[in-house]
Amino acid sequence: MYENPKLLLDPSASIEAGQFTWRSPSNLAIIKYWGKYGTQLPRNPSLSLTLAASCTDTMLEYELTENTSGQIDLDFFFHQEENDAFRTKTLAFLESLLPIFPFLKQLKLTVHTGNSFPHSAGIASSASGMSALALCLCSLEDALFGTLPEPNDFDRKASYIARLGSGSACRSIFGHAAVWGETAAVSGSSNEYATPIGDLIHDQFKDFHDDILIVSSHEKSVSSSAGHALMDGNPYAEPRYAQARTRLNTLLDAMKAGDLETFGKIAEDEALTLHALMMCSNPSYMLMQPGSISIIEKVRQYRAETGNPVYFSLDAGPNIHLLYPGDIVHEVRAFIDEQLLEHCENGYVQQDWVGEGPEEV
Ligand code: PMV
Repeated sequence: MYENPKLLLDPSASIEAGQFTWRSPSNLAIIKYWGKYGTQLPRNPSLSLTLAASCTDTMLEYELTENTSGQIDLDFFFHQEENDAFRTKTLAFLESLLPIFPFLKQLKLTVHTGNSFPHSAGIASSASGMSALALCLCSLEDALFGTLPEPNDFDRKASYIARLGSGSACRSIFGHAAVWGETAAVSGSSNEYATPIGDLIHDQFKDFHDDILIVSSHEKSVSSSAGHALMDGNPYAEPRYAQARTRLNTLLDAMKAGDLETFGKIAEDEALTLHALMMCSNPSYMLMQPGSISIIEKVRQYRAETGNPVYFSLDAGPNIHLLYPGDIVHEVRAFIDEQLLEHCENGYVQQDWVGEGPEEV
């Protein structure tokens, strides 16, 4: 959709070296994307909250190069150190983008990137990392060709590019909340990029917390891409995709109305459905750990005893996301300290909340 062979620099023109830096957040899906087809297209629409504290800062430096090899010239630094594994991955991604950004092979590129959370925390960084890189690439295109002056066009293209890097990353481009995947519930929604829904939802959800309880920071035994692929042979796949579509409609109505109870029920059901799908894949696998289950039980008990609207979610891993509105933050933090920290690796909790989306820094 964005392929453009005309985006090439005139080699005789003088192009000044420059740089762009974007800070982009992670996001937490409430309706989960699990199962894909084609080039990173989702089998069902998903809806996420955009986070604030868990983010990636990426600086992209560029200068015109004499390089005529047709290969992209890239140096890559992660937390100030050269990182070969990330360089190789990023290079392959940039090469795949050449039909969209052909000028990349005319430049010498240097990427400096780093996360606001410890690398070892077991928090996925693909959504924040890929969205930050996509935003830098769109800034570069606009600086060189003036092709993306409209913020909506810019964001849409950044979301499209982020999606090609990691599906869920396309939702991180927008503040507060976003939907990715075609659904009649959100006009203009698409499988190719995410759509912001911050204007549709009740203010209550813009002041929501998501404290991430790190049960284990160890690398997952089955990656997300392998997990998506296993959905192809999963006997529950089709009913699951239908369920996600229905749940998204119900969730969106609840988020418009500020209905916390329905929101929380769907968030928890979606988290457990995601893990149930893993358990009935072939081969089956489990990413939850005893600590995850202990936390889930304590959250349900705490809610029953106090009536406080505190809910759990999970990504594709053992860590628990604790979701609750901002007005009970002190009570919930006390509950975490007293009852949940004992299940967290080294007592580590990444405090997070709903944020405004990426910013250029
Ligand atoms: O973006 P990927 O391919 O890493 O898949 C992410 C899948 C989940 O995080 C489990 C759900 C989601 O929608 O973010």
